Amino acid sequence: MAASSDVHGEGGIPDMAKLAQSLPLETRCLPFSLRQYGGFWLPEWILPGLEAVHTHFEPRASDVFLASFPKSGTTWLKALAFATVNRAEHPPSGEDHPLRRRGVHDCVNFFESTFAVSREGGDVFAQLPSPRVLATHLPYSLLPERIVEDSSDSDCRIVYICRDPKDALVSGWLFTKKMLAAAAATNGGIVEMLPPAPYTMEEALDLFCHGRCVTGPHWHHVLEYWEESRRRPEKVLFLRYEEMLREPACNVKKLAEFMGCPFTDEEESAGVVDAIVDLCSFNQLTNLQVNKTGAMEGRLVARNELFFGKGVAGNWSNHMSPEMAARLDRIVEGALRGSGFTFASFDNSA
Ligand code: A3P
Repeated sequence: MAASSDVHGEGGIPDMAKLAQSLPLETRCLPFSLRQYGGFWLPEWILPGLEAVHTHFEPRASDVFLASFPKSGTTWLKALAFATVNRAEHPPSGEDHPLRRRGVHDCVNFFESTFAVSREGGDVFAQLPSPRVLATHLPYSLLPERIVEDSSDSDCRIVYICRDPKDALVSGWLFTKKMLAAAAATNGGIVEMLPPAPYTMEEALDLFCHGRCVTGPHWHHVLEYWEESRRRPEKVLFLRYEEMLREPACNVKKLAEFMGCPFTDEEESAGVVDAIVDLCSFNQLTNLQVNKTGAMEGRLVARNELFFGKGVAGNWSNHMSPEMAARLDRIVEGALRGSGFTFASFDNSA
């Protein structure tokens, strides 16, 4: 799999202000214009953030990066990792827990979008205490070398959450429609979006099947992290949304262990794992006032409630016909053939 140095060439990441206009452009994929870079379709507005994280971001050895393809359970993973890492300072059953007062995405920021919308992005991260938990939708091959490198100085860890592509597609399509409606009602946010237009499931599927979606192709995004998790399991933990739904406590323990803060026997007997699972559960989070009425800081259109849909596996069947699903399954299976990787829904033995 291409390492970031391969993608960016000898000189590292190029000057995006100059390069962006010459990159292939996709404007049919709402809500953002996309540009193709390093084999992936990235929102045009993220490109300066990509350059900035390569140039200015200073990783720390103890950093944990939560990585995902959009609409794969990022919000849930962020809540679980944040609650787990900070459980000593903020006991999960505490009434005043930060997750009960602030939006999940304000507790754990996406580093490329923070850098893209604010030049002070680096300062925000520099002020966070260690261990920092940060998030990214960037593909593995576009992460800064200082994060992925094998060196005694770099002990950063990456947790990836993967979800069935049909559910990720449908979740993204529903999210986009709600986001466009919210933007129309509030005169937009600070990130420029394409003008609202009818956006059918058929159109979204067709673009998705051609890999044209935010950080697509989906299966390449997943495969890069999966391959790295096989090569360096101590560096990359690969989780599946569907398995987390089935066995949340078991996955939280795995997550804690990987992040270097395993639960003690005393904590387990005291019910700390269950308290974290409960605090971060779909029902708990969706019932919090901050997630009913709050908005992601600095971005009016991304109201917190938009990040919560149904929170189940298989919602695709309510929006895609069996033929549409079979078309996507065929493409994904073909693309993954020979890799050794399958999505849970294709794996009958799972
Ligand atoms: P659906 O739209 O299928 O319901 P992301 O956080 O990457 O944007 O992914 C959003 C998806 O994760 C949505 O899926 C959302 O409902 C689901 N989700 C959010 N919080 C969750 C939680 N605590 N438990 C389970 N699923 C959750």
